[in-house]
Parts: sequence; structure tokens; C-alpha cells
Amino acid sequence: MDPRIELLKADITTLKVNAIVNAANQGLLGGGGVDGAIHRAAGPGLLEECRKMGGCATGDCKATKGYLLPARWVFHAVGPVWEGGGRGEDGLLASCYRKALDLAGQMSLQTIAFPAISCGVYHFPIPRACAIAWKEIQKGLSRNPQLEKVILACFEDEVYEAYRRLARP
Ligand code: APR
Repeated sequence: MDPRIELLKADITTLKVNAIVNAANQGLLGGGGVDGAIHRAAGPGLLEECRKMGGCATGDCKATKGYLLPARWVFHAVGPVWEGGGRGEDGLLASCYRKALDLAGQMSLQTIAFPAISCGVYHFPIPRACAIAWKEIQKGLSRNPQLEKVILACFEDEVYEAYRRLARP
């Protein structure tokens, strides 16, 4: 396991990293789950900036400031809704991680934290989603050597255990 990956049971809104990734929707106007938690913790300035972003396509990722969050930036990634696996969901989820890591590279950031994108309201199967995330994060770290730490902020035990199984040598 790349020593730069850190597995943590955590509420992502508490993490003092350069950027936290939000599991957003295409409208970028907030929602429940981690999206709701991030907007609550960031305060109204986040929604004001999001309103000007013109939304975000599934599989893509857009940056805003972090406002009242300890993190400097929020990367709003829009994961796919799970529809059985035959609608390109795996590739769209992989794209969220790839674009977030490459955006961190373009912005010369050192630390970033991810929630388990699409593993809640979007019902992506957790083991499958975590395996996709794990693979993309390893590839993203090799493409972006300036990254010092990628935190996997696990809110649920099932996500944490899925990553622990992947981390085993
Ligand atoms: N910190 C870290 N992870 C969290 C937090 C938190 N504070 N709150 C929830 N999570 C976890 C969930 O337990 C799940 O494992 O984030 C993962 C993603 O779940 P959702 O937040 O439901 O996101 P997603 O499945 O991608 O669905 C996105 O839900 O909230 C709406 O506006 C959002 O429409 C979008 C959709």
C-alpha cells in the first residue's frame, strides 16, 4: 500500500487538508449525505459560489473555496448513480477520482481527502466502488508525485472494512 494513503474513520468536514472532495450532484446546489455536511460546515458562502459554477457533469470535478471548513478547497465531484453496472458507472466513478487527483496536481496541493463517492444515496456497491477508488488513487499518486497524503475518510464501517481488505498485502 502506498504509504501516502491514509485510511481514517472520520467526518471529512473536520479534516485540515488542502482539499476535501464532496460527493455532489450535477446541480452543485447541495443535498444530503456528505454534500449536506460540507455545506453546513462551510457556511452560506459555499452555496453562493456553487450557484455561479453552472453545475458539473457526472464523472467531473470542480473546485471552490472551503470557506468556514478547515480545508482550503472543496472539490465537488459528481459520481454516477448505480443502475446495475451496465451504464458506464465504473468508468464515471473512476473519472471522479482521476480528475480530483489531477486537479490537486495542477493546483500543487499536498493533501486531499475523499469520501466514498456514490456509496450512499447513489447506491454504488461499496466493495466495487472502493476497489475502483483504490486503483485510481494509486495511479493518481504516481502521476502526481507532489501529493504527500490522500486520506480516505470513511464514515461507515462497511466502507472502512472494504478499504482495509484492499490495503492488506
Ligand atoms: N464525512 C465523510 N463521509 C460521509 C459524511 C461525512 N460527513 N457523510 C456521509 N458520508 C459518506 C456516506 O456514508 C457514504 O459512504 O459519504 C459516502 C457518500 O454518500 P452520499 O453522501 O450519500 O453521496 P452519494 O452516494 O455520492 O450521493 C450523492 O447525495 O447528498 C446527495 O447532493 C448529493 O445528490 C447527491 C447524492
